[in-house]
Order: sequence, then structure tokens, then C-alpha cells
Amino acid sequence: MVSNPTFPVIAIDGPTASGKGTVAQLVANHLGFHYLDSGALYRIVGLASLQNKIALDQGLALAEMTKSLRIEFKENNIYLDNQDITELIRTEEMGLRASAVGAVPEVRLALLSLQKSFLRAPGLVADGRDMATVIFPNAVLKVFLTASAKIRAERRFKQLKNKGISANIDILLSDLLARDERDTQRKDAPLLQAMDAHLLDTSEMDVEKAVQKVIFWYQKVSKEVGI
Ligand code: C5P
Repeated sequence: MVSNPTFPVIAIDGPTASGKGTVAQLVANHLGFHYLDSGALYRIVGLASLQNKIALDQGLALAEMTKSLRIEFKENNIYLDNQDITELIRTEEMGLRASAVGAVPEVRLALLSLQKSFLRAPGLVADGRDMATVIFPNAVLKVFLTASAKIRAERRFKQLKNKGISANIDILLSDLLARDERDTQRKDAPLLQAMDAHLLDTSEMDVEKAVQKVIFWYQKVSKEVGI
């Protein structure tokens, strides 16, 4: 798994609403590492494709558009062309659109160098679907974080409720299963557990425990490789 990295990367992949974003962010804060939310990038491309009315079969046009996007992550907010789009990209609709543009190989290629540019000293926690398998195959620690579909739908339901957004749990569950299906079945960089990844099933685990587990694995491997 380890190949003498310049700066350490912790890659955390998993299906939608598994809680990997929260866990990844907390691990990054704890270690003082940078954080890459790669799903946000696909959501931004999804949003921009709708704003620019570019269809999903227009791979080259989508790639051109992706490369020209002016994306900024500042503190906890995300900006596209100086417009704060933090909340706009968090809707279910944008999640589905992200999954659709994520199945376009030209879009994945266009996002490659931007994702890699997040790796800076002292290290990076990267969350997504293909962090361990494609973007950072030399990550010192790879984690596949998941939970049952029912639990994930319940978590998403609670999240939306806390934001005052009404939702139907059955619709959430079927949207989530549709997204899982597309993410695991696509040809290019499908969602899958890397051979050398630790499996972390959080169905019966709270966030704090999951964070501790990842930090424990990281401390163990950093001792082994002498980071
Ligand atoms: O993680 P999040 O739910 O924000 O991701 C939204 C969508 O973006 C996912 O369903 C997936 O299709 C796509 N994605 C991807 N590769 C990544 C991260 C996200 O294809 N590395």
C-alpha cells in the first residue's frame, strides 16, 4: 500500500450519505491536514452544466467547461466565479446531476489535476469514490467507509430535517440506491473498495468512533513507514 509518499494522503471512499465527508473533515482537522471534498467538485460541474445548458452526451464541451471553472474553497464555503454556491450544490437534485456528470470520462479526466493539486504539506485527507483507486493510489492509508442503505437514508433524512427541508424517506432511499447503482456500475473509476483499503462500516458506529478508528490506523501506518 505504501510507496514512500512526499506528503501523506489518507483516502476515504464510500457510497453516498455514508458519513465519509464528516469523518474525513474531522480527521483532517485533528491532524492539521488539508481536505479534499471531491464530491463537491462533481456537484459544481453538475451545477455548471445545468447553468450552461450542456447535455450529458457532450463530453468534450463538458470537459472544456470543467477546465474553465473558477472554483475556490474558502474556510467552509465554496465559490464558483465568486458566487457562494455552498448550499446550492447540496440538494438531492445536484447529487444526482453530479453522479450523471461523474459518469462522463472526459469530466473525470478534466478534474484530475485539480484534485491532485490539493496535496500539499503537511498532508491531505481526500474523500470521494475513487480517491484510493485512481487519484491517490499511493495513499498511506485507504479507508472504505460505508453503512447500510437504510441507515444512510435515515441519516440523510435527519440532515434535511435539521435544515428545515421536508423529505420523504422512501424517495430518499430509492434516489440513494439509484446513485449507488450508477456509481458502482460506471465503466470509468467506479465506486469500489481498493484491495488494500480498510473497511469501516459505520451502521452501528457514531462519528466520534469512526474518526478515532481512522486516526488509530493512520498512527499505526505512519509509525510503520516512519512519517
Ligand atoms: O460525495 P458526494 O455525494 O458529494 O458526491 C456526489 C456524486 O459525485 C457521487 O454520487 C458520485 O457520482 C460523484 N463523485 C464521483 N467521484 C468522486 C466523488 C464524487 O464520481 N471522487
